Amino acid sequence: MSALAEDTRRQIADYLHQHERKSLLRFITCGSVDDGKSTLIGRLLHDCQQLFDDQLAALERDSRRHGTQGDNIDFALLVDGLAAEREQGITIDVAYRYFSTAQRKFIVADCPGHEQYTRNMATGASTADLAIVLVDARKGLLTQTRRHSYIVALLGVRQVILAVNKMDLVGYDQGVFDAIEADYRELAGKLGIEKVRCVPISARDGDWVTRASDAMGWYRGLTLLQLLEQAELDHADDLGAMRLPVQWVNRPDADFRGYSGTLAAGIAEPGMEVVALPSGRRTRIARVIGTSGDLPQAQRGQAVTLTLADEIDISRGDVLADARHPPEVADQFAAHILWMTEEALLPGRQYWLKSATRTVGVQVSDIKHKVDVNTQEHLAARRLQLNEVGYCKLTLAAPIAFECYADDRTLGGFILVDRQTHATVACGTLSFALRRASNIHWHTLAVDRHARARIKGQTPRCLWFTGLSGSGKSTIANLVDRRLHAQGFHTYLLDGDNIRHGLNKDLGFTPEDRVENIRRVAEVARLMTDAGLIVLVSFISPYRSERDMARALFPEGEFVEIFVDTPLEVCEQRDTKGLYARARAGQLPNFTGIDAPYEVPEAPELRLDTTAQAPEELAARVVALAVE
Ligand code: ADX
Repeated sequence: MSALAEDTRRQIADYLHQHERKSLLRFITCGSVDDGKSTLIGRLLHDCQQLFDDQLAALERDSRRHGTQGDNIDFALLVDGLAAEREQGITIDVAYRYFSTAQRKFIVADCPGHEQYTRNMATGASTADLAIVLVDARKGLLTQTRRHSYIVALLGVRQVILAVNKMDLVGYDQGVFDAIEADYRELAGKLGIEKVRCVPISARDGDWVTRASDAMGWYRGLTLLQLLEQAELDHADDLGAMRLPVQWVNRPDADFRGYSGTLAAGIAEPGMEVVALPSGRRTRIARVIGTSGDLPQAQRGQAVTLTLADEIDISRGDVLADARHPPEVADQFAAHILWMTEEALLPGRQYWLKSATRTVGVQVSDIKHKVDVNTQEHLAARRLQLNEVGYCKLTLAAPIAFECYADDRTLGGFILVDRQTHATVACGTLSFALRRASNIHWHTLAVDRHARARIKGQTPRCLWFTGLSGSGKSTIANLVDRRLHAQGFHTYLLDGDNIRHGLNKDLGFTPEDRVENIRRVAEVARLMTDAGLIVLVSFISPYRSERDMARALFPEGEFVEIFVDTPLEVCEQRDTKGLYARARAGQLPNFTGIDAPYEVPEAPELRLDTTAQAPEELAARVVALAVE
């Protein structure tokens, strides 16, 4: 091999090595539509020469055709690359872009500015070390600036670069910049954002983005790019205590059992004592296996498989942790929630919570307050609407290992998923546990539910009648009750008359009140079946979600859903209480079937057609099912 080739080879190796060892900064850009985000990112990519010649040629061509900058290059076209977006004039999803300088590598999440895309912003912020908050010099801080900064702070981003853009349009006036900087520093102080750097720029022309600008000679700081290069990295040297959220149990044959996942924190090495949570069983790491075999150790961010010295029961969603510094385990939390969907969050409704690799049932049992993102004021709230942030109490169906979000984004961050549609409806951050799992003692009753039922000579049941107002639920339920009683069964009927006038007299007919109404009814019915009774429940119970929640409270087979299927026209014709007439006249808001929904049961145990059979016949069918 010639010396020259050898030399070239070494140079390439050096270059690659240096590139590999460069630190990586993840950041997001946030701003309102038209603040110039896309132009800024395009400018960074262009000036850092991340564009290939053919891309550049295409950009010049496109700038002439679609651009807004005359004969100059429109950098926004680089980023707003999709045709559909161009037509709409807005960027529609989080796009991750990569670029690098001699000092550092960067991943930037470009988050759209429109209000309905707050969820994208949250997604980008959850992994960012730093945020560039872009403000139009002519407009100063807007509601969006405040909202985005609030979310950035909530999701743990501790450094912000405030880029005051379009300085060329305000005559490069230092006074304008100083005033916006002062406003922003005040806001950042209130939000607890620790480090704020401010830079005046013109993204279009490049002033103070990647080069100094004579036009703003009064600015003595660094360019935006230098600020990015010098920003501190979060937890760069502090790896924390070892945490492995188990993604899957790797069991190819009877001889091997490994636990795979990505290390969320710390260092894993053979011999280390670990605890499996939530079970609390302890053992030692036997082997740490990476993609190409055994490793002496692995650290945060690496995907590994661990094998353990003892066989203990661990499943997906559990956390393996350093036994000397284990995370807490709990099933009730205080948490912030950012609601991200049109349909409001209703306290009492069941959702899925996904945190790290764990999925568990959850109920938002209380909204302590919601936050006005403009003023950080706490406001009373009974529901959360799209884009609102609330401080809530969460109750989980099972305990999980967790960390407070400020300490660990993986074990402290979560999303909420709708059980029916499987759509992501919220993201959130755990603050602290309200009740530790170790303090929970369900005292075992001295007399168990079977003993109570046995002495009554019956099988407990919950006969759940659902249907529109006036469908005939209570008529049939009363007939069933009378017949069962006559046959010597121990029963009880829960309906609007005895529940809504007592236990639930504080509740009306808004969606959140109906959810709470059914939640309490279901809990009471469950206690009554524990006591050995056959309980008849007669409520409209219009939402599938709450009927499913009720069903889940009972042992298999004990909950019998009976859909009293009477068409709305028939109920309205009967109008026994005159309520439909009032609802039609606009005097009864939220009336089921008129201006409030009724979600038809998909798979009830029994469907009763009141237009085809008389109440007595229908009651006989229910009785037959109840005592079978
Ligand atoms: S539920 O939706 O929360 O399950 P529930 O069964 O307790 O409703 O109460 C329904 C009864 O309340 C109806 O049969 C009717 O007599 C009365 N009512 C009063 N206002 C409304 C309303 N807005 N919508 C439905 N029912 C109402």
